[in-house]
Amino acid sequence: MVEITIPSANVTFTCAEDDTILRAALRAGIGVPYECNVGSCGNCRFEVLEGKVEHERENPPGWSERDLQRNRWLGCQARPLSDLKIKVPMRADFKSKYPPVRSKGIFLGFEDITHDIREFRFKVSIPSPFVPGQYGLIEVPGGNGIRAYSMANVTDSGEEWHFNIRRVPGGKTTSYLFDGIKPGDEVSLDGPYGLAYLREDAPRDILCLAGGSGLAPMVSITRAAAVSDKLQDRKIHFIYGGRSARDICGEKQISDLPGFGSRILYTPAVSETSDGWTGRTGFVHEVALDMFGEGLRDMEIYFAGPPPMADAIMKMAVANKVPIQQLHFDKFY
Ligand SMILES: Cc1cc2nc3c(=O)[nH]c(=O)nc-3n(C[C@H](O)[C@H](O)[C@H](O)COP(=O)(O)OP(=O)(O)OC[C@H]3O[C@@H](n4cnc5c(N)ncnc54)[C@H](O)[C@@H]3O)c2cc1C
Ligand code: FES
Repeated sequence: MVEITIPSANVTFTCAEDDTILRAALRAGIGVPYECNVGSCGNCRFEVLEGKVEHERENPPGWSERDLQRNRWLGCQARPLSDLKIKVPMRADFKSKYPPVRSKGIFLGFEDITHDIREFRFKVSIPSPFVPGQYGLIEVPGGNGIRAYSMANVTDSGEEWHFNIRRVPGGKTTSYLFDGIKPGDEVSLDGPYGLAYLREDAPRDILCLAGGSGLAPMVSITRAAAVSDKLQDRKIHFIYGGRSARDICGEKQISDLPGFGSRILYTPAVSETSDGWTGRTGFVHEVALDMFGEGLRDMEIYFAGPPPMADAIMKMAVANKVPIQQLHFDKFY
């Protein structure tokens, strides 16, 4: 264990040699900025004032030569090589309701959702609750580092975490999960993480926008919102976008919720014309704008999926004057 001090806030916490600065801070109940946890977004940057660190992932995309020159590192990737003094903005709203825990996931089984998305269910060796919309980190044997996956289920006990994962051709982790894992096999789990979770206190209708692999967190949020006492007079709109009809999913996951068809409304959309498709066409941000127009300003909007999709939704929402604090998202780098 090493000691890490944030002198500007007079705060000290400990970090295991094989942990990262960001994750150790969150485990200690300290709120520091982050988003992806895999070295891609750059939001967890901090400055080393004293001491040495190294990155877990070689040349993470969210880090530059300029950062190195200024002794700035990525909190989600930086492992301590000595005691440290660091400079990082502390933010109470980044604090985890449930501090992240490192555990094992014992594989229970799977169910196919589409031709390339599958639900994987794990029993968690140290039960860890999460807020709907959060994600966990999985490391598989022989994989190439950790990967982030959002949980699709809702749980008070945290005994099981369910993931909806899209196969990436040639992908290190997804290839193992789709082709190698057997019931009883173990993976490393760490979490929960993430800020794009359900805000039960927000007094607005909810819009969930999912594209491709972004299904899981929107399903979890919809499942929780459907039964939340605080949200019973709120509508929940769920828009799922895929390329063609065979990619469309999500309805089965939410169709058994109380209020489905009246308070909870599901809209699928395809971006490429498909034979026989009679539903909406276009990208999810276009469909959302077409359906709600200026009404978007009065909604709490959650979204998850590939970075270009998330960027397009963000651009559309900002152009239509949706207050930034009503937007909650994870980009699936
Ligand atoms: C917050 C978040 C939530 C996500 N949730 C989901 C989800 O619910 N369902 C889903 O299908 N996908 C999700 N993803 C995407 C997922 O994490 C993987 O990127 C994807 O499954 C491809 O992994 P792979 O190992 O099969 O492919 P690879 O091609 O082997 O890996 C590709 C990805 O891994 C990253 N990467 C490469 N090397 C490293 C390393 N050493 N350490 C860390 N990252 C590395 C790259 O940035 C790249 O995006 C999420 C991503 C993020 C950031
Ligand atoms: S780069 Fe560290 S949280 Fe995204």
